[in-house]
Amino acid sequence: MSEPEVVYLKDYLPPAYTVETTHLTFELAPEDTHVKATLRMKRHPEREAGVPLELFGANLDLRAISLNGEALSKSRYRIDGERLIIDDVPDAFVLDTEVVIAPEQNTALEGLYRSNGMYCTQCEPEGFRRITWYPDRPDVMAKFTTTVIGDKATLPILLSNGNPIDQGDLEDGRHFVTWEDPFPKPSYLFALVAGQLEVVESYFTTRNGRTVLLQLYVEPQNLHKTEFSMGALKRAMKWDEETYGREYDLDRFMIVAVDDFNMGAMENKGLNIFNSSAVLANPETTIDAGFQRIEGIVAHEYFHNWSGNRVTCRDWFQLALKEGFTVFRDQTFSADTNSAPVKRIEDVAVLRTQQFAEDAGPTAHPVRPDHFIEISNFYTLTVYEKGAEVVRMLRNLLGKETFRRGTDTYFERFDGQAVRVEDFVNTMADVSGIDLGQFMRWYEQAGTPRIDVAEEYDAERQEYALTFRQHTPATPGQVADSKQPLHIPVRMGLLNGRGNPIELAVGNERPGHEMVLELREAEERIVFKHVAEKPTPSLLRGFSAPVILNFPYTREQLAFLVKYDVDGFNRWDAGQRLAQEAIFDVMHAIQAGEAPTLDDTLLDVFDYLLKTPDRADRAVLAEMLQLPSEAYLAGQRAQVDIDAIHDARAFVERSLAEQLHFHWQALYESNVTKAAYEPSFEQISHRALKNVALSYLCATGDEDALALADQQFKTATNMTDTRAALTQLVHRHAGERADAALKAFEARWSHDPLVMDQWLTLQATQPHPEALDRVKALMAHPAFSLRNPNRVRALIGAFSQHNHVNFHRADGEGYALLADIVLQLNKSNPEIAARLVLPLTRYQRLDEVHQQLMRGALERIRNQSLSRNLYEVIEKALA
Ligand code: PHE
Ligand code: ZN
Repeated sequence: MSEPEVVYLKDYLPPAYTVETTHLTFELAPEDTHVKATLRMKRHPEREAGVPLELFGANLDLRAISLNGEALSKSRYRIDGERLIIDDVPDAFVLDTEVVIAPEQNTALEGLYRSNGMYCTQCEPEGFRRITWYPDRPDVMAKFTTTVIGDKATLPILLSNGNPIDQGDLEDGRHFVTWEDPFPKPSYLFALVAGQLEVVESYFTTRNGRTVLLQLYVEPQNLHKTEFSMGALKRAMKWDEETYGREYDLDRFMIVAVDDFNMGAMENKGLNIFNSSAVLANPETTIDAGFQRIEGIVAHEYFHNWSGNRVTCRDWFQLALKEGFTVFRDQTFSADTNSAPVKRIEDVAVLRTQQFAEDAGPTAHPVRPDHFIEISNFYTLTVYEKGAEVVRMLRNLLGKETFRRGTDTYFERFDGQAVRVEDFVNTMADVSGIDLGQFMRWYEQAGTPRIDVAEEYDAERQEYALTFRQHTPATPGQVADSKQPLHIPVRMGLLNGRGNPIELAVGNERPGHEMVLELREAEERIVFKHVAEKPTPSLLRGFSAPVILNFPYTREQLAFLVKYDVDGFNRWDAGQRLAQEAIFDVMHAIQAGEAPTLDDTLLDVFDYLLKTPDRADRAVLAEMLQLPSEAYLAGQRAQVDIDAIHDARAFVERSLAEQLHFHWQALYESNVTKAAYEPSFEQISHRALKNVALSYLCATGDEDALALADQQFKTATNMTDTRAALTQLVHRHAGERADAALKAFEARWSHDPLVMDQWLTLQATQPHPEALDRVKALMAHPAFSLRNPNRVRALIGAFSQHNHVNFHRADGEGYALLADIVLQLNKSNPEIAARLVLPLTRYQRLDEVHQQLMRGALERIRNQSLSRNLYEVIEKALA
């Protein structure tokens, strides 16, 4: 294939022509849906007259095209790849087109497609061009009116954005509904849904007293899974009014659940479309973490109505403008609704494990990339999660109140516009008076910054000095020398020997017990005065910047911080560092052929935590009692030995399990509740502690412990407890018990694909060497399908991302399996293929043998004819 075109940020030009109104008519049919479009267009004021008109389209069968009512002959326009060009157009005109598309054949799930017989759309980022010829770019905003025509018996529900303004019956048993969206929007926010759906309704009264109709559309079998999301939506609406002063702006807000969906959910104006896994929940089918994930996603999509829809992106390089900000908004919403420290711990764990790995690999890119081949490849952890961290740093630098003034001003200034990251940051600079010029580098420079911190204590002068050295390693396209120092907020405090916070004195400033240092130089030294004894520093509290910070803590200091730090996040982090060191000790012993032992300090800390459980809130405690994941640990090594990490972690886990057996038993028993299930914070923390305890008990492999898991499995009344127990039985390889439980689970839940996804995942992630064969066998199971992204993620994604020992088998069979599947998906669903392949691209820190095998698998993929999506990823990985 010819080399795909690269798009550069620096080449941006405003569109030559914009669209004022877009009228669409859909006549729905599986193989031949007719789409008529009437676009009222005019020349962009900044562009000269006589420039050709350029529209985008893909897989469209063009049946008619006319300009100002006159059919265009073939000589008046040409089609070049995804572009339709008309050389000669006046300054203002009406363009009419008619195309035919085949939703039934659309397996890529971009544009208009069918899911379980229902019609639905996915247009972000460039799916609208699979529906009709259009200037499909986010800086073209038009008012849409959409008429949907379909068979009344099979498609009783016909939805699009905005408000219904007309409806009626047609001949041949068809009917229609016309929708009008009063807010101009880019094409990526267009949506259409048609099907046999049930609706659950409720109302929300805005702070100005307007009543909004809330509708949740689902397939009939899912009606019992809607209550939680409806509640979450109302909580989000209220929170956004209180926290950001943002009120909803249409008379109705609709959510539709669909089974086949590439991502989590989509914020289409007034008509959000959700992956069913991101909206349907019920205690019997959904684990606690699932409820919390759903609450976060419902809020996220709702928040986009302002951060994304009312104020949108000028071009796709600005994606983090809407995504980073909206993730930050949903993170703080969840923190306010549940436990703030636990939410922070979870978010940072994802960032440090997955986003840092992205930064360290061949697909690393800045929060605002400056070029791409396929924009769908840039819906990444860097854009979303690091993008959220950057917004969080702005709030750290400005303070809450000034930040709020900044967001108010931003929404006011740019309402109805398509803008850039600079517009957001400059607004923050304007309202605060802070110079954020250097801060912009966070958007432009890829890679994870490192900060090495050294201390000096002068007892005579009672001075304590910290020296911070920052640098960012090279990333593809950005050599180490080109990396500039960043503006980094470091929230910190100092503790004295009794564990009390020290009053800080820097120069003439007396900030209290805590301060935010603002690093700007490659090297900076800060001197604290009147420090009576050598303190223990607590640095980067709340993870105030997305960096790797190294301070030469002794293990005693880490244990001390676990006990005494006032910052919940840093208490957890100190414990994780201590556990990491203990695990690496064991790893080194194993590698040297010596008998490993458990670090005493770690054992003491666990003993302390288990004896004084009220010291931390329960939810934080449950986090503190868990060891860092294998993926996180691998990220800490310059050279990764997958098996050694696994064995070392398992050794430490088993040692803690055995030596503190009595405590685990007690922890389990004291957290059993009889109360009816609620996904409340209180109950969630009890279940979390109980199931952590169960996991340690089972880590011994003791018959008693497995019997306990079995009993929990048989008596559980909610999926959290069921799944925790089943995971233990399967992951600890409990033989007969595991097989019987898997069968029982299957028999009970085979009708519910979202539950069966969990059944697939927990088998795919078992550490036992039989995992690979199990995955292959499960691919033939009726619960699996390569056509549905959720099934693929549940089985193949889980295996390759969360089962390191088996994915990285020395015989390369794990890699071969992934390559085979990626090649199949390359044809049917390129977006999913390009995501799924990523674990294969992360070979840089593995040994030569694994590197060879992984590159071999990638080369086998490269030899095929690839989609743009996969081409871009594979070329980077093999560069
Ligand atoms: N914009 C969606 C969100 O983050 C994600 C998405 C991107 C969904 C592309 C579908 C396709 O809320
Ligand atoms: Zn989003």
